[in-house]
Amino acid sequence: MKQTRRHFLTQTCPSVAFAFFGLSFLEACSKDSSATGPTNTDQPGGDSGFEVNGNTITIDLSNTNFSDIASVGGYTNILTAGVLLLRISANEIGAYDNCCPHDGTRNQWYRSGDNWVCDDHGNSFSSDGENVRSCNSGATSGGLKKYTTTITNNTLIVTKS
Ligand code: FES
Repeated sequence: MKQTRRHFLTQTCPSVAFAFFGLSFLEACSKDSSATGPTNTDQPGGDSGFEVNGNTITIDLSNTNFSDIASVGGYTNILTAGVLLLRISANEIGAYDNCCPHDGTRNQWYRSGDNWVCDDHGNSFSSDGENVRSCNSGATSGGLKKYTTTITNNTLIVTKS
């Protein structure tokens, strides 16, 4: 499928987009499958159940947009806030940058066992963010950035840093 430049830029994190158009140091890999996980494409505010204020994302866990993370192991990708969420336990939700460290894809995440998988080329990351599998061509990847979270009643606060 041919991507437009606009589509590429909206789905790719800025540092990787710069690398793509400036210094092309990332190596492409082959795609493994077509599976992708739940993705929230709402804009913040209104009935979306989340707000973004600078580096802070405030999420109403009682909003139906976040029913995917009500149970342990559930996950979702808030595409417009740039964050993946994973229910780790009753009292803990992990939050991660949804920008894949390999080539910047944000919208092709799913879970396989205990790992995040970016379906664009198949890199895998542990729930701690460590790169546990590089894609088939051997391109190296950094880890998946993990953010600080706190839960108070039905409110989740994600602090990007
Ligand atoms: S962009 Fe290549 S594995 Fe994610």
